[in-house]
Amino acid sequence: SSAQIGVTGLAVMGRNLARNFARNGFTVAVHNRTAAKARALVDEFGDEGEFVYTETAKDFVAALERPRRLVVMVKAGEPTDAVIKEFAPLLEPGDMIVDGGNAHFADTRRRERELRELGIHFVGTGVSGGEEGALNGPSIMPGGSAESYAALGPMLEKISAKAADGSPCTAHIGPDGAGHFVKMVHNGIEYADMQLIAEAYQLLREVAGYSPAEIADIFRTWNRGRLDSYLIEITAEVLAHVDAATGKPFVDVVADRAEQKGTGRWTVQIALDLGVPVSGIAEAVFARSVSGHTELRAASRDLAGPVAEPLSKEAAAAFADRVEQALYASKIVSYTQGFHEIAAGSAEYGWDIDLGAVASIWRGGCIIRAAFLDRIRAAYDARADLPSLLADEGFAREIGAAQDDWRAVLVAATQQGVPAPGFAAALAYYDALRAERLPAALTQGQRDYFGAHTYRRTDREGSFHTLWGGDRSEVEA
Ligand code: 6PG
Repeated sequence: SSAQIGVTGLAVMGRNLARNFARNGFTVAVHNRTAAKARALVDEFGDEGEFVYTETAKDFVAALERPRRLVVMVKAGEPTDAVIKEFAPLLEPGDMIVDGGNAHFADTRRRERELRELGIHFVGTGVSGGEEGALNGPSIMPGGSAESYAALGPMLEKISAKAADGSPCTAHIGPDGAGHFVKMVHNGIEYADMQLIAEAYQLLREVAGYSPAEIADIFRTWNRGRLDSYLIEITAEVLAHVDAATGKPFVDVVADRAEQKGTGRWTVQIALDLGVPVSGIAEAVFARSVSGHTELRAASRDLAGPVAEPLSKEAAAAFADRVEQALYASKIVSYTQGFHEIAAGSAEYGWDIDLGAVASIWRGGCIIRAAFLDRIRAAYDARADLPSLLADEGFAREIGAAQDDWRAVLVAATQQGVPAPGFAAALAYYDALRAERLPAALTQGQRDYFGAHTYRRTDREGSFHTLWGGDRSEVEA
């Protein structure tokens, strides 16, 4: 038993993670249900470091030094349970099973509980950064016991991405499902970021009249400013790409139906359960859903819309600047909502998640990595109990400075008939939070009228009911 860590499940993510461990000097046992895949990995990449090829589950477990660290990289869901079922009987107390898939945190909580009874640490771990990240440094979000992090943390810190200041993009998130919960919200924010960028693109195209290549250039410019991020960078690449077969912009030959594997949807489902308004993320999920309803779209094609008026060149350039403001302001709102959900999850499950640390480990390696995250880290570091990102002075100032342009962009979108649900939801959230009075008072009145659901008053303690069907006097409930 000589391997410090083992990886089972050698599809592209598992294979790249195994290579990453090996390249960083760890001896890695590799295992796959079809052993040929493990053989192929060692044959192809054996010179990158120390691999131990293993054929059976028994060999694999025997190859690991104790306490064993076993990384599972299989498809989330049933396959994860199947692997646990296969390996758990072969393990001993103190051993660790790390699940690096996109598992639902509720499954992770269940698995952690079951394995804890056997003395085995189950470490549900979010891994972000795609294939490239897995190989060269992902952002890693481990949950599970503090004890398991003591044994795993140094290795994860070594293979993770590093932020610009050199700090590793991994930290112990919290017990049981905390890591997978945070990865879920990461993906929800990823959906929102992508949707906001997509709306910016469509507005630049349809309102300002820019071509995909021109928009790629605009995004490249933005990427040198406060929007500097991986997603803006790759968006420019995608927009500049030309389809070889037709010579058309690539974006014009791709079917406009967005798919999803479900993590963004989970973020919204859980937010609904926790009562956290993640309207920006929800609009991003729904926008994908709308795009996929081809039958509805076909049936609606003849609905009336406004006559679009083309902008002059100068007006288009000015509009592009406004879109940058709208995108940035909406992005602040998405992150505000996402971090709110993490705070709420942490409170609900007693995870004690350090929000500044989450922002810190998202600065590198993951899909939403961005200069912006260092600002969020700083905001929480300055004030750990910050009730909302919008309560941070810096963000409040920036969003305030952006609001006129943000509104102007939505006016243009509305007048020209270009849907911008992400921008609109973000602005509605901003305005709702700012409002001195909300029409929720009227909602309460309606509820009391039809269902005697009672209401509270602004001027007195207690619950009240108005006798709507009688003399309309008020009674204390
Ligand atoms: C990451 C990504 C990764 C995956 C998404 C894609 O952080 O590396 O989020 O986990 O690419 O789950 O999600 P959809 O298929 O749902 O768009």
